[in-house]
Amino acid sequence: MISFLNGTFRLDTLHTSYLFRVTKFGHLENIHYGEYLADQPLDAILLKHTAVIGSTVVYDASDPVYSLDTLSLEWSGIGKGDYRHSPAEIKMPDGTFVTDFVYQEHRVVDGCIPMQTLPSSYGDKKDCRTLEITLTDRPGQVTLLMYYTVFPDTDIITRRAVLLNNNDKPLVIRKMMSMMIDLPNRNYSLVTFQGGWIKEAHREDQRLHYGLFVNESTTGSSSNRHNPGFLLAEQGASESYGRVYGFNLVYSGNHYEGIELSNQDLVRVMAGVNPHCFEWPLSKGERFESPEAVMSFSDQGYNGMSGHFHDFTNRHIVRGDWKEKERPVLLNNWEAHFFSFTEGKLLRLARSARRLGVEMFVLDDGWFGKRDTDTSGLGDYNVNRKKIRSGLPEFAKKINRMGMQFGLWFEPEMVNPDSDLFRAHPEYAVQIPGRKPALGRNQLVLDLCNPKVRDYIVESVRGILTAANITYVKWDMNRHMSDMYSPCLTSQGEYFHKYIIGLYDILHRIFSDQPHILLESCSSGGNRFDLGMLCYSPQIWASDDTDPVERLEIQKGLSYLYPLSAMGAHVSSAPHQQTLRATPLSSRFNTASFGCLGYELDLKYLSRLEKNEVKDQIAFYKEHRRTLQFGRFYRHDPYKNNKVHWQTVAADQGESVAGFFQTQSAAGEGFDFLPLTGLDGGSKYTIRTRPQPIYVKRFGALINFILPFHIHPEGILAGMINKLYSLTDCVEEYQGYGDILHSGVKLNNQFVGSYYNPQIRLLGDFGSSLYMISRVKP
Ligand code: GLA
Repeated sequence: MISFLNGTFRLDTLHTSYLFRVTKFGHLENIHYGEYLADQPLDAILLKHTAVIGSTVVYDASDPVYSLDTLSLEWSGIGKGDYRHSPAEIKMPDGTFVTDFVYQEHRVVDGCIPMQTLPSSYGDKKDCRTLEITLTDRPGQVTLLMYYTVFPDTDIITRRAVLLNNNDKPLVIRKMMSMMIDLPNRNYSLVTFQGGWIKEAHREDQRLHYGLFVNESTTGSSSNRHNPGFLLAEQGASESYGRVYGFNLVYSGNHYEGIELSNQDLVRVMAGVNPHCFEWPLSKGERFESPEAVMSFSDQGYNGMSGHFHDFTNRHIVRGDWKEKERPVLLNNWEAHFFSFTEGKLLRLARSARRLGVEMFVLDDGWFGKRDTDTSGLGDYNVNRKKIRSGLPEFAKKINRMGMQFGLWFEPEMVNPDSDLFRAHPEYAVQIPGRKPALGRNQLVLDLCNPKVRDYIVESVRGILTAANITYVKWDMNRHMSDMYSPCLTSQGEYFHKYIIGLYDILHRIFSDQPHILLESCSSGGNRFDLGMLCYSPQIWASDDTDPVERLEIQKGLSYLYPLSAMGAHVSSAPHQQTLRATPLSSRFNTASFGCLGYELDLKYLSRLEKNEVKDQIAFYKEHRRTLQFGRFYRHDPYKNNKVHWQTVAADQGESVAGFFQTQSAAGEGFDFLPLTGLDGGSKYTIRTRPQPIYVKRFGALINFILPFHIHPEGILAGMINKLYSLTDCVEEYQGYGDILHSGVKLNNQFVGSYYNPQIRLLGDFGSSLYMISRVKP
């Protein structure tokens, strides 16, 4: 797994190898990161330095071709001839910015070396080994520890760095990345995940150009704008073919990823805490730890790389009782009620949910203090008895008696100026003396750098969790940072990072001894969808956008980096509150079923037929939940722009669920097929459409061509028929061996405007179907 021979380090996973060596001057030179290499002479793959490259600075007069600027490095300093972006900018004890870290020693340990201030991946000696390399800047008396943890079974290597000041004089860190690597360019494209509120994680591809591209967040969170995860893919890579690298950070704050193509065609990649407004003093004996960076490589395209990230997150990031445990189907009352509810309303909704098979009832915002709008009450977590007459412990019991678990929403990091908490403790809020603080969603941020504030949050949340039987918490965070300041800091440049360290401390103190509580992190949807939060919350609310057409983009984007078991996905009412788009109930479920399923709507507005449909959806989901949450997930390359194909396959290949989604319909749609992969080639499978209803309203005036009598398509009668009568969308059933099915199942025609019969698939705009693929028992 990790070896050191003739000055060369070799890190191997099941399918990848990572090689670097110590140069004659002590720098670490990357030799290879990519496909697994058998033990063999390496001369052929070493980067050659036979000419003096013009305009370079020579590191040592004894060797005119040794220039740091043209080496493929594992870490680089400043001021010794490398003019590419440096992973560290340190005002050294002598007041200069020059650093030159060279190899001193190394050790290899079994398992992981836990961090002191930040969450990180975990594993014991059968899962992973860690290489610790000590580098020193000798004149400065500063040590850099670089950690490489190798997880062979998931093809992941993590990296991080720790800086130690051994000098009597202090130093100041202005930038300190977690990792850096130089790779020869192979015409790479950079894939990042960009967005904003209700449009998170949209995949963006761009060819690498000479110069530096930065993917970063400055909002105080990992952010819905630029997820910290990104990919490098060789030209032509697809979902199933080609070389793809993936990088991510176990961090929830401001992050920075620099990707620089140098004039010598080396790609420098680095990732870590964002240097934006960052300044960290380090006195003698103090250390600074950077977050853990996660790297993977696959020559099996994007899906191959995603599979590594998914397994790694499920096995080595998510911890506690919910590790690899199926998530309950929940109903959240937010989109049903917003702030306006009574206990009676909630209980009616809960009863109805239970009848449909929901397993957990989640009470969202508005249950406490004077919280009838988002302008007041945040911070005052005393139950509002006008809304919940019997109080939380009793209300929880009522939900439990129905046979459901009870979950509750909090936004503990925030305060409304109009709240008792703020009136009593204005100093708990982040604001700069003498400046008027800017509000976001009418609220201020609490100062998590202040230990008193952290204690207050821990006590108030714990108090509620111990008083009532609450087995799920939605932990929200609904604004970006502004007016960054804390009286508790030595340097204000520590603010952003210490806030996140404070957050992790709070989460650890509240939840580590209550592992049965399922934590779902949320930040206006996916504003903090990252591996740092996943160390505490096994699932994250992916987006406030519950429109399934938008969700296809959002969940697809997230799936490159995170497993389906981590994605909260809900069925809501249509037209959707975020887009005004009307979508079929079946498509809302079909999309949400590729994630942790929930419902978020007022069930009283559903007709009896629709309730039956929801009941069937939940029953189907429960039956195939392990495959849907933990199966191997594949995105298929779409053969047409208006199609999306997803598939998830059980670990034992015994079953698979495939989704066929159509965004906009096109006139006269051609032949469709269902792409499939991941099945056992030698096994026989039955493939069958999951039956779903089509409501007659979908046909508009065409209804008159189906019915034996004429009605007004918008009239009362049409409304009644719609509530009482539905058609079943075309159900197809085939059998075939896995290898045959891998060539794609040809499906029946779509409705193309000519006529209708039950063998025609009815998709239209935003239509979709799920297909159940089950191995035939011999
Ligand atoms: C945020 C969340 C929503 C909901 C509201 C409540 O927007 O993302 O899901 O909880 O807050 O105020």
